[in-house]
Amino acid sequence: MDYKAYIAERLPVEGVKKEEIAESIAVPPDTSLGDYALPCFKFAKILRKSPVLIAQELAASYPADGVISEAAAVNGYLNFKVNRKGLAEEILSRIEREGERYGASSLGAGRTVCIDYSSVNVAKPFHIGHLSTTVLGGALYRIFEFLGYKAVGINHLGDYGTQFGKLIAAYKHWGNEEEVLKGGIHAINDLYVRFNSEATEEMEAEAREYFRLIESGDKEAVGLFNRFKELTLDYVQKIYEKLHVTFDSYAGESFYIDKMGPVIQKLKEKGLLVESQGAQVVDLEPYGMAPFIVLRSDGASLYGTRDLAAAFYRKQTYDFDKCLYVVAYQQNLHFKQLFKVIELMGEPWAKDLVHVAYGMVSLEDGAMSTRQGKVIWLEDVINRCVEKALSIITEKNPALENKEEVAEKVGVGAVMFGALCNNKIKDIVFSYDKALNFDGETSVYIQYTCARASSVLAKAGERGETVILQPCEQEFELIKALADFPDTVKAAAEKYEPSYIARFAVDTAQKFNKFYFDCKILQAESEELKNFRLSLTKATLTVLTNALTLLGIGVPEKM
Ligand code: ARG
Repeated sequence: MDYKAYIAERLPVEGVKKEEIAESIAVPPDTSLGDYALPCFKFAKILRKSPVLIAQELAASYPADGVISEAAAVNGYLNFKVNRKGLAEEILSRIEREGERYGASSLGAGRTVCIDYSSVNVAKPFHIGHLSTTVLGGALYRIFEFLGYKAVGINHLGDYGTQFGKLIAAYKHWGNEEEVLKGGIHAINDLYVRFNSEATEEMEAEAREYFRLIESGDKEAVGLFNRFKELTLDYVQKIYEKLHVTFDSYAGESFYIDKMGPVIQKLKEKGLLVESQGAQVVDLEPYGMAPFIVLRSDGASLYGTRDLAAAFYRKQTYDFDKCLYVVAYQQNLHFKQLFKVIELMGEPWAKDLVHVAYGMVSLEDGAMSTRQGKVIWLEDVINRCVEKALSIITEKNPALENKEEVAEKVGVGAVMFGALCNNKIKDIVFSYDKALNFDGETSVYIQYTCARASSVLAKAGERGETVILQPCEQEFELIKALADFPDTVKAAAEKYEPSYIARFAVDTAQKFNKFYFDCKILQAESEELKNFRLSLTKATLTVLTNALTLLGIGVPEKM
């Protein structure tokens, strides 16, 4: 129920749009005076009256009904009281009816959102820096689908560049089939690292030649490159499964090599391409940016050139309404330049390109820091977190049957939640202990709350027909939270901010726990009250499960 819209609909203010009124309505920090409040200060100028008087007049004319039971003026504010029982009836029956679709909508029907995320580099480590793009992107994918959009997940693989010539040269010198098969991506990465520290002039020349061979389609070179790519994809696939992310396309940088020509041609026709020190660039000086390099002086394309071709390809192929790039803020300039170039080319869809930037993740734990430039593999962080989760769970509940399975959900969830629980642009310092704190603002706290709700419901067994009663304070706070879920999902999509859903889940779990500790459920004073509370428990479990599922985090039944 969108109370703000409901109130705005019934509250005409001369010269002010309904949407504007709805937006001005807020939830006061202290709800004893009202569940919603409209500050009337902003209307004083238009109406040429004091806020106090405006509030009084509006209160007198507001038609209270079964939804909003009261409108009262207090010091320039108009306070609304919700019909609590009415809300309980409406929300509980809606959650019961819609179940795992509660919060979903058809808002985005007929519209497509491309989401470029994770976008790993072939033969390079899948490291902690990829955590955010992978889980934020995965969450956005599910959120948009939940809202009826068609989501297209794209893994824009880093699979093109001179480094692959180096890799082949290194492999030829030091590698062998068996080692690479056994060591997989680690072995390939080691070869690459070794090349960078030990390669001779001669090997550098070889590397350039191998890269040329890849480009000209030489069978052996391309074959080797494809093997490296396959090994990388096999490796990341296992991690994607753990993190519950999927992709519709793995079209990486190399995919665009033969698609750059027409785009470069277009740049030329528009007169945007200029020469600068032998390179072909788009001058962005009038916009306060460095030039966007399209072709290097040796004629080679760049990361940006491939991105330019990719944007056009995506527009043609998917006819997107939005194309999101979930990429760290270090690439802010790159995307600003890219979007500007497309705008200068006269493409109206340039405005639909969005860089969804996020902050850095580092580990608090010194034992696995980046000492000696050592990279932290995401897999190691996940495994370590699952191990820790297992030992905590074993200690807390030694009798639990499927401990490993639960530890997997808890440990993986904790790592993911680390990247999802704060505003995405913030830098994050990940701490295993904090992430696995059962009493913190953590995923495990939410999961534990779900398990608690499941256990209450299991103990109750069959329950009779629910009669909705007048909710007490704790019950009402919880119901209001549950009612907010659909709007939270929409806001998360609008702001590309899955953290809204994460915060929502923490907040709702806290409200459930307050209810759980203050109100007796199974020992309620009457059968009616027990059933009412059980249905509230069931509804909470549904909503928290929906929230965690959107984030890609598993929900154990028992913990
Ligand atoms: N592979 C790149 C990196 O690791 C990220 C690619 C992001 N996507 C894009 N279309 N540029 O930095």
